[in-house]
Amino acid sequence: MCGIVGYIGKRDVAPLLLEGLQRLEYRGYDSAGVVVNSPKSGALKMVKAKGRVRDLEARVPKRFAGTTGIAHTRWATHGAPSDVNSHPHLDPENKVAVVHNGIVDNAADLRAKLEAEGVVFASETDTEVITHLIARSLADSLEEKVREALKVIEGTYGIAVMHADFADRIVVARNGSPVILGIGEKEMLVASDVAALIAHTRQVVTLNDGEMATLKADDFRTYTTSGTQTNATPETVEWEAASFDMGGHDTYMHKEMSEQAEAVDRVLRGRIDDRFSTVHLGGLNLDAREARGVRRIKILGCGTSYHAGLIGAGLIEELARIPADAEPASEFRYRNPVVDPDTLYIAVSQSGETYDVLAAVQELKRKGARVLGVVNVVGSAIAREADGGTYVHAGPEVCVVSTKCFTNTVVAFALLALHLGRIRDLSVADGKRIIEGLRKLPAQIEEILAMEPEIEKLAQEYAGAQSMMFIGRVRGYPVALEASLKLKEISYIHAEAYPASELKHGPLALIEPALPTVAIVPNDDLLEKNRAALEEIKARSGRILAVAHQNQEKADHTIVVPKNEDELDPILMGIPLQLFAYHTALAMGRDIDKPRNLAKSVTVE
Ligand code: AGP
Ligand code: GLU
Repeated sequence: MCGIVGYIGKRDVAPLLLEGLQRLEYRGYDSAGVVVNSPKSGALKMVKAKGRVRDLEARVPKRFAGTTGIAHTRWATHGAPSDVNSHPHLDPENKVAVVHNGIVDNAADLRAKLEAEGVVFASETDTEVITHLIARSLADSLEEKVREALKVIEGTYGIAVMHADFADRIVVARNGSPVILGIGEKEMLVASDVAALIAHTRQVVTLNDGEMATLKADDFRTYTTSGTQTNATPETVEWEAASFDMGGHDTYMHKEMSEQAEAVDRVLRGRIDDRFSTVHLGGLNLDAREARGVRRIKILGCGTSYHAGLIGAGLIEELARIPADAEPASEFRYRNPVVDPDTLYIAVSQSGETYDVLAAVQELKRKGARVLGVVNVVGSAIAREADGGTYVHAGPEVCVVSTKCFTNTVVAFALLALHLGRIRDLSVADGKRIIEGLRKLPAQIEEILAMEPEIEKLAQEYAGAQSMMFIGRVRGYPVALEASLKLKEISYIHAEAYPASELKHGPLALIEPALPTVAIVPNDDLLEKNRAALEEIKARSGRILAVAHQNQEKADHTIVVPKNEDELDPILMGIPLQLFAYHTALAMGRDIDKPRNLAKSVTVE
């Protein structure tokens, strides 16, 4: 979900739009583009390029005058980052230009229909279907053409549309992806983020879902997608331009943690099939017969992605009853693994570029294995090498430490496990139960994020520790591993993660008042076992911070999180511990977005 900027007025539009795109750069993106409307002929002129806004700027020709234009930074969801896949998308006659944030869920169907009617697509994007639908509409006005197109589109969008035959206006629409109008003096702006408007105007109108707007240089009006006029009174934005660089957050980590509810909503969108209590994952390239033939699943990833894979393996075993495990890709590739034709391999990666994972995938493919990718960055190396897979749609993740991508990856695994389960032995009733649980996640994540002040206080209390222990059992163990990694990465406090069941086999020797333990205690069939571990620690005077579904008597503090289905609880239980690591690091004055010695993507051995 990336950036849109548009302008209609009297000023030379290209420099203004490029400056606006720069203001959106903090969100992360992979390509950028701009289209302007030639003041004399009304013809559309476009430049777009994979890469940074400055690469785009370098390509803008000298003669690029215009007073109306729309621009975009793209975070690819359909089709790899490339010049042609960048937005805007024009129709073959260069009449219609569209920029789009979001995902068209039924793009594949619409594309097939349009191709059957003879439409030739220039790009692989879902967005291009919107362009063709508008261009082919026979309606009289641009508003009506856009409305007709939106009628057949399912999914999320913030769009801005220009048309050479309607040169006096920009039409915009919103459904699930922000569109904000900037109201100026004889000029109007539009953007997906106030950051891109603030240098020009503080008067804004935020569109609601299902709303559209027409912008002319000296006038704007808003209406619903069914045509009813709506009331839009501009509001004054109080903030300074500089405060937007991280979308109002102090760090990217904080911004990305706070985006988790909407990110989870995005990975669920368009995939749930209530009729059969299952989910559709379009790109798996694994038909039902092949899915039934899978004997084992082996998940490979590094760091946080490996931890997401561990939870994924648990979900697959529980829901699909296929033996599954996860292993660090970095280890796997060096141990001359036995590659079994009945095993399905799954490579997990946020960046899709991690060398250890890529090398493991290449080695597996060389040995004839089937490899799926669970990847965030569309068109990345791992996504391309894999035989199929699913994107996790977390959106750009800038902070070196992964948070929202972890959560979305685990949800993507839940979808995969449900899909495989319903092909195999998972009952309709259980499928329905899991779907209901998945649907609850975004609101429950919001509930957890709202607990930040309480978690901040706890973090301040524990920030003096030299070392911390994290424990969990079965579903909770990977949560403990990931929470301890988060704490190490940004606070540099030494942290150990252990299965709670292993405590008495060794690490119990470490327990004393100076070594606090963070315990994952879900209210599931292992609750009593976990409580016994808390007793053991308390008996050695250890301090305990529990993450649980109800207050834990033996713990010094409990973070009480909302309950979901037992299988899905791990998705939620890690989130308070991201906040805990964050506030511990903050209390210690660490540079959160740039932890020492670490890089966002490890593309070397
Ligand atoms: C996450 O917080 C880490 N910085 C790191 O462990 C990361 O998850 C790992 O390097 C794998 O990256 P990937 O998901 O991009 O492949
Ligand atoms: N789904 C569109 C694409 O892949 C838009 C992505 C975005 O929001 O930047 O091109």
